[in-house]
Amino acid sequence: MEKEIRALKAEKNAVVMAHNYQPPEIQALADVVGDSLELAVKAKEIAADLIVVCGVRFMAETAKVLNPGRKVVIPVEDAGCPLADFLTPAMIREARRRHPDAAVVVYVNSTAESKALADITCTSANAVRVVQSLPNDTILFGPDANLAAYVQRELPEKTIIPLPPGGHCYVHAGFTLADVEAAKRKGGTIVCHPECPPEVQERADRIASTGGMVRDAAAGGDEPWWVFTEREMASRLRVLYPGRVFYEKPEAVCADMKKISLPDLRRALESGEHEVILPPDVMDRARRAIERMIAVGA
Ligand code: 13P
Ligand code: SF4
Repeated sequence: MEKEIRALKAEKNAVVMAHNYQPPEIQALADVVGDSLELAVKAKEIAADLIVVCGVRFMAETAKVLNPGRKVVIPVEDAGCPLADFLTPAMIREARRRHPDAAVVVYVNSTAESKALADITCTSANAVRVVQSLPNDTILFGPDANLAAYVQRELPEKTIIPLPPGGHCYVHAGFTLADVEAAKRKGGTIVCHPECPPEVQERADRIASTGGMVRDAAAGGDEPWWVFTEREMASRLRVLYPGRVFYEKPEAVCADMKKISLPDLRRALESGEHEVILPPDVMDRARRAIERMIAVGA
């Protein structure tokens, strides 16, 4: 199967992008492994006729928005993100009516339609910097309320309104103070994704996005790490930093991230299914919001 996939990649001049949460056998065959933004940005830099995104739908959409002239496919059509589904275009329009002076910041874990209505997007790696870059005092921020709370804590001078109030990722919302206590009893550094609940974030040693975890771990240290995010992140870190100890929470599984198997990847390369198709005006507006974010990062 691996041989066939490698041969198909060459035959179709395809690039395979895999998110940090993908199963290890998919990551092993990918040309690029990274966080959601890294995948989309790197796809722009690689000359390929076909971009296969092994991740969830919003990641494939972002890759398409940034690469409008190229074919982008996702091997399993219904690999979605329940967090992204919390925010609808109608909610954004209604919130803008109620808060005409506010800026709308939309997390990349969102649909292309929601991004198209944003002033700017953000990732968990740059959310604070993005909000800081805006002149507005009030920020409508969605769909993750825990990430909104994190930004609010870092920037008390702003008023962050979560949109909707209870938007969350069920994988990260599953981390509790009991997990913190258990980790502290065994010892080591707790590294927590900002989608985790605020009380968990407050007791963690570090808060980082998935890309941030890869970068922070590169700085070294021999303490074990408790990786408070989707459990595959720990396998990714173990591959990158052999000899270091990374603990995962076995129950922290994103079901949608595990929908793509090697036969699905082979089928996508063979057939070119399932192509991401978005209305051109949605892509243009979403691209503006994403490129504004990239400019802030730069
Ligand atoms: P990253 O943007 O850090 O890759 O995270 C995406 C995600 O789905 C977090 O749960
Ligand atoms: Fe969405 Fe959560 Fe899965 Fe990330 S881990 S893709 S936020 S459901």
